Amino acid sequence: MATITPFIVGLWRKSSAICLFCAAVCASLCGNACGSDPAQAQSNTRTYTASAPDGMAVFRKYCIACHGADGKLGLNGAKDLSASTLSKAERIQVITNGRKLMTPFNEVLSPEEIQAVAEYTLSLKK
Ligand code: HEC
Repeated sequence: MATITPFIVGLWRKSSAICLFCAAVCASLCGNACGSDPAQAQSNTRTYTASAPDGMAVFRKYCIACHGADGKLGLNGAKDLSASTLSKAERIQVITNGRKLMTPFNEVLSPEEIQAVAEYTLSLKK
């Protein structure tokens, strides 16, 4: 295990958020195959990035600090997401590029994760 983990991390450095999230999962799932067979590791990378990200998990990890679990916390001037009237496209825009005290997430999250979390915020709407 100790020897293959740096290999996987190096392979996935491009998409660091996904990499950190999945490195442990991949290490436990594919075992030594990742270290010994680069082609195999490649196909594993594709499998993981292609699987639909969990919007709720992303929200709990990155967003509740300001927005709260139900979207209503409003810390640092954050908008009440359960009352937001923004469309999905507008939410993706805010999440990607940030606004005022909200930091941009384009360096942290993949476009797929941003879309998934935008969909999740729509589900908070009452
Ligand atoms: C550092 C605190 C902070 C974090 C973390 C944060 N936000 Fe925000 N968010 C804000 C603030 C502040 C605003 C209001 C910006 C403004 O007034 O223009 C906002 C606004 C929004 C809006 C627009 C709502 C509206 O109706 O205008 C959305 C959507 C949103 N955030 C989603 C998210 C998502 C999804 C995450 C996690 C990926 C997140 N935010 C993380 C502070 C934060």
